[in-house]
Amino acid sequence: MDRYAVIGNPIAHSKSPQIHTAFARQTGQAMTYEAILGPEHGFADTVRAFAASGGRGMNVTVPFKLEAYDLADQLSERAQAAGAVNTLSFRADGIHGDNTDGVGLIRDLEENLSCPLADRHVLLLGAGGASRGVLLPLLAAGPRQVTIANRTAARAEALAERFHPLCRHTRLDGCGFEAVAAAPVDVIINATSASLSAEVPPLPDAVFDGCALAYDMMYGARPTAFMNHARARGATRVADGLGMLVEQAAESFALWRGVRPDSAPVLAQLRLQLA
Ligand code: ATR
Repeated sequence: MDRYAVIGNPIAHSKSPQIHTAFARQTGQAMTYEAILGPEHGFADTVRAFAASGGRGMNVTVPFKLEAYDLADQLSERAQAAGAVNTLSFRADGIHGDNTDGVGLIRDLEENLSCPLADRHVLLLGAGGASRGVLLPLLAAGPRQVTIANRTAARAEALAERFHPLCRHTRLDGCGFEAVAAAPVDVIINATSASLSAEVPPLPDAVFDGCALAYDMMYGARPTAFMNHARARGATRVADGLGMLVEQAAESFALWRGVRPDSAPVLAQLRLQLA
């Protein structure tokens, strides 16, 4: 039986085993998927031991995505752009590293939430790993403009500069929250970790007014502080990141198994359990 796993620390809360087990059942794939608590030191040894014991692939979560990037023998283009790896495949020619977070986000926005990004103005909040991880697929979706806004302006400016060569038609800028124009945007994506502490990035109220979608990469049983804030200021639709979680898993599964699972019933089931 082919073995897969997710590795992180902590890991007990991970929904990946449930998601991948549902995908496997749905598509008739003979495989197992377990959760592994990665040691603070010795991530690479743990991954190699799993591969040596018949492992075919692993998902990688906090705090190991950068170590997974360093460990991989080959990297996909999107993993290189993200500077982080969330999907490892153990192949005959070595360990292949990929990053499915960005594609997962875009699929959730465009397909599950019917929010096309082409020709739109997207405000991306945050300039850490979560933002960097999704920028390549975000730019590939063809927005007219992407504004990266961050608490520390210099990080947003540096990230915009880094991705500038990958822009075709998109205008890409980085700035501090205080420099965000008080004018409506089409889509706002919160990739900061502010929701962990129920904080909301300080933005002009006008950015939310009539905004098609305000999306928080975090998720929980209840709407996040950011979602409530956005709705109260006129966002047409708000959503959390549970769909992104399921879609990044679907992309990893498709990479490993060559079959694309139907994410909708799995997302519906998870949503029910969260409530
Ligand atoms: P991640 O991998 O989750 O992106 P990270 O690389 O540590 O983690 O980045 C966290 C992001 O959330 C950063 O953009 C951070 O802003 P700074 O670059 O100024 O540190 C942002 N962030 C964290 N707490 C925040 C808060 N309370 N309000 C606004 N932004 C916050």
